[in-house]
Amino acid sequence: MFSEPAFDNHERVEFVFDEKSGLRAIIAIHSTKLGPAAGGCRLWNYDLPENALHDALRLSKGMSYKNALANLPFGGGKAVILGPVEREDRDSVFAAFGAAVKNLSGAYITAEDVGVSVRDMEQAARKTQFVSGLAAKNGGAGGDPSPFTARGVLRGIEAVVGHQFHRSDLEGLTVAVQGLGGVGGNLCRLLSEAGVSLIVADVDPKRVEQMCDETGARKASPDDIVFADADILAPCALGGVFTEDVVYKIRAKAIAGGANNQLANEAAGEALHERGILYAPDYVINAGGIITVAAEYLGENDSAGVAAKIDAIKERTMAIFERSASVGEPAFSIADKMAKERIDSAPLRNPEHLKSAPSGA
Ligand code: NAI
Repeated sequence: MFSEPAFDNHERVEFVFDEKSGLRAIIAIHSTKLGPAAGGCRLWNYDLPENALHDALRLSKGMSYKNALANLPFGGGKAVILGPVEREDRDSVFAAFGAAVKNLSGAYITAEDVGVSVRDMEQAARKTQFVSGLAAKNGGAGGDPSPFTARGVLRGIEAVVGHQFHRSDLEGLTVAVQGLGGVGGNLCRLLSEAGVSLIVADVDPKRVEQMCDETGARKASPDDIVFADADILAPCALGGVFTEDVVYKIRAKAIAGGANNQLANEAAGEALHERGILYAPDYVINAGGIITVAAEYLGENDSAGVAAKIDAIKERTMAIFERSASVGEPAFSIADKMAKERIDSAPLRNPEHLKSAPSGA
């Protein structure tokens, strides 16, 4: 595992097996330097267990960088549950997952990611307090974070439009959205309200039909959407979308979407830069979900404050683009440097800080 390319100095990786429920999970903790490692839990049917490990490690490091640049008092971690999970086992699998999170004594705080619902996190919460993304109570923060993620992605798209198209509104632009789940679906509605023409794709044809009816979007096949004749691509499905081969066939002028780990590797990011395709670093613009999950976990009930923190994604993304343009380096590597600077300059803290119980959960 130490030679796995995505390992990158992870502090800790837990392999969890629970015989009774059948849970198989990996919990990766990249860094706790800024606080407990916070990041969602993904349920996915991986072709091979090593793909699950690779996914957990890449996502976990991404959370360290995301939380650092969003100025949250959290480090980065992520969990993956290896599917399939049968419907009748689901509640006990998530309860067993909650018990595994509890065993980490607060070093890792979990929430939803792809394939995981609020109900699943409620099952985990039966066993541990180190969980967020629970149903909202008493008018506080909580519930599905994806609408908040979509709001932040919209702010990232606004930054792209300002920098690449020298415009302040989105009216009449065409955006191709890949994946119409929680993030992509909400993003489509926001873009449509802003006067954007949409091209959409999903592996689930029902979601495509529904979005076309709702917004007048045109449909594309899941294989072709990244080559669509659009101004901007918004990947909102899974990671690894952009390989070097794909990059050379893209027609859009910019990329700004919600999916984690959109670049298959750094070479793909360099190739985008060389082609003059502006890439908004994914973990910078998809931080809206973790910002609201963090507020819920910390017991903050200030919805206007959460909205303001999410809206600040636009300014942060603009600053990254400006630094990128001034030094001639791709925006993704500027973002990585800024995140590393914040993590490396944090004072060493007593490990006791990891045990702090949430005030709201
Ligand atoms: P979701 O599970 O609700 O939706 C994903 C959608 O993508 C589904 O409709 C699925 O059918 C579709 N899809 C899967 N493979 C596809 C393909 N090859 N082509 C086209 N469509 C495909 O997931 P959610 O929550 O919307 O997350 C989407 C992405 O955003 C993920 O990468 C996730 O890690 C990331 N993200 C999500 C956050 C959230 O708040 N939910 C926060 C930050 C990142």
